[in-house]
Amino acid sequence: MIKLVKVNNYEEMSLAASQMIADQVSAKPDSVLGFATGSTPIGTYAELVKMYKHGQVDFSRVVTFNLDEYCGLPRECHQSYYYFMREQLFGHVNVPDNNVHVPDGMAEDIKKECENYEQRIFDAGGIDLQLLGVGLNGHIGFNEPDEVFYNKTRLVGLTDDTIEANARFFNDKKEVPTEAISMGIGTIMAARKIVLIAGVDKAEVVKKLEEEIVSPQFPVSILHYHPNCVVIAVQGA
Ligand code: F6R
Repeated sequence: MIKLVKVNNYEEMSLAASQMIADQVSAKPDSVLGFATGSTPIGTYAELVKMYKHGQVDFSRVVTFNLDEYCGLPRECHQSYYYFMREQLFGHVNVPDNNVHVPDGMAEDIKKECENYEQRIFDAGGIDLQLLGVGLNGHIGFNEPDEVFYNKTRLVGLTDDTIEANARFFNDKKEVPTEAISMGIGTIMAARKIVLIAGVDKAEVVKKLEEEIVSPQFPVSILHYHPNCVVIAVQGA
């Protein structure tokens, strides 16, 4: 079931999402948090950094797992999701380095890396709260529209739409990796709570989500089957 919360602007969305994450960490200081990259969560991470600096949230026992990572980009590469997370959040708060998990897109054996990633999530006790953004085509993580819902973390090919949408972070569209490692739909659905944030740019996606038709051609729609999912969407979105 999705609880849809409409807010007036990006700032309100970021505040609401960061508050939910901070509440989760105060209720359970050793929470396992799932994080997303992209433009949408930047404000949420900035709010969390502010809260941390004001002593309102302590990440010292938190464990994190990111949704996805490009294949073929080393961690130091500015376009890697690992680098993004360090710039936006991890470099500014007290999450211990060893508690941070981002799939290794440079792994020699990608299949093994995917299996290990699932195992690490399991060993950590599962994800307590997963933050999600959504693609214009309804993807969550890099689970693109498809014939079926894929369950576990795996190697995915990115669609042309997604490559096009992500080209803004690269010098040239040709530099955008064509493959990534992504948590599967099952991995995401196993999180005990899901918070999806959608800016005004996702108005059409949220409207379609409200139709409540669940289909792998619109992967985000699976969230209707999640027992504890909040969508924070900017009005008009
Ligand atoms: C990022 C991710 C993607 C993004 C989605 C929206 O880790 O998994 O599903 O959440 O592509 O991206 P933005 O926020 O840039 O519109």
